[in-house]
Amino acid sequence: MGREFAGKVAAVTGGSSGIGRACAKLLAAQGAKVYLMARSRERLAAAVEEIARAGGQAEAVQVDVTSGEQLAEAAAFLEKAEGRVDVLLAGAGIMELGPVSELSYDLFEAMMRVNYFGVVETVRRFLPLVQKGEFKRIGIISSLAAKISPPYFSAYSASKAAVAGFAHALRQELAPQGIRVVLIHPGPAATPLVDGYLGGRYYPLPPGVPVVSPEHVARAALKAIRKGRREVFVPRRLALTAWLAGVVPGAVDLTYKLVGRGK
Ligand SMILES: NC(=O)c1ccc[n+]([C@@H]2O[C@H](COP(=O)([O-])OP(=O)(O)OC[C@H]3O[C@@H](n4cnc5c(N)ncnc54)[C@H](OP(=O)(O)O)[C@@H]3O)[C@@H](O)[C@H]2O)c1
Repeated sequence: MGREFAGKVAAVTGGSSGIGRACAKLLAAQGAKVYLMARSRERLAAAVEEIARAGGQAEAVQVDVTSGEQLAEAAAFLEKAEGRVDVLLAGAGIMELGPVSELSYDLFEAMMRVNYFGVVETVRRFLPLVQKGEFKRIGIISSLAAKISPPYFSAYSASKAAVAGFAHALRQELAPQGIRVVLIHPGPAATPLVDGYLGGRYYPLPPGVPVVSPEHVARAALKAIRKGRREVFVPRRLALTAWLAGVVPGAVDLTYKLVGRGK
C-alpha cells in the first residue's frame, strides 16, 4: 500500500463506523493522522484502537454534527493541535425508510439535520482549517439515493439530494482558492446503516445492483479525493444508472414496481 497521505491531517465525521471508519483506517494506513468524529465514545475508542493496532495515528473527538457549537469546539481543538486540516471528510449520516404516512415529521427533520445541515455546519466550521491545509480537499458523502429516489426513500433521498446540491455549488465557489470539493455517491454498502433494511420490503435490490464493502467505498472515495474529482459513484457503473434515471425517470419507477412485487 502506498503512503499517499503521508504527513497529512485528516478529519472524518462518521469515523467510528461503516464507510467513515473504513476511510479513516485507509487514510491512516496511507500515512495521515486522522481525527475521528462521531457521538458514541465507545465506538470512537474502538475505531481509534483498531487504527493504532495497525500502526496508524488516530484520535477521537466526540461530536454531534447537529450541534454547531460542538463542531466549533472540535475545530478549535484541531486548530490548537495541528493548525490545519488537509482532508476534511463529511461522512456522518443516518437513514430511516418507510411510507411517508408512517415516517414522523421528527424523522424527516432528523435526517435533514444530520445528512444536510450536519454537512453544511461541518464545512462551515472547518473551512478556515482547510484553507490553511496543505492539500485542501473536502470529501462529502452523499448517496446514489440523491439521484434515484425509490419508494420509501423519501426522507433519506431528499436529505441526500440537498447535500449534493450544496456540494455542487461549494465546489465551484471554493475552486479559486485551490480547494477541491469531491462528492461521493455510494450505492448499497454493507454497514450498520442498512442493517435490517437491505433486501427487505422498503429496500429491495434491483437485479445487478451490487452490495459493496465499506472498504471498497473507502478505496474509491480516497482515490477520488486524492485526484480531486468532482463526483464519483461507487461502484463506478452506478454513474450510468444515475444518468439513465435522469434521462428516463419512468425506468426507475418500472424497475422498483417490478422488484417491489412480492415483498
Ligand atoms: N451504507 C450504505 O449503503 C450507504 C450508501 C450510500 C451512502 N451512505 C452514506 O455513507 C455515510 C456513512 O454511512 P454508513 O453506511 O457508514 O453508516 P454507519 O455505519 O451507520 O455510520 C454512520 C456514522 O455516522 C455517525 N453519526 C450519525 N449521526 C451522527 C451525528 N449526529 N453526529 C456525529 N456523527 C454521527 C455514526 O456515529 P454515532 O452514531 O456514534 O454518532 C457513525 O460513525 C452516510 O452519510 C450514509 O448516508 C451509506
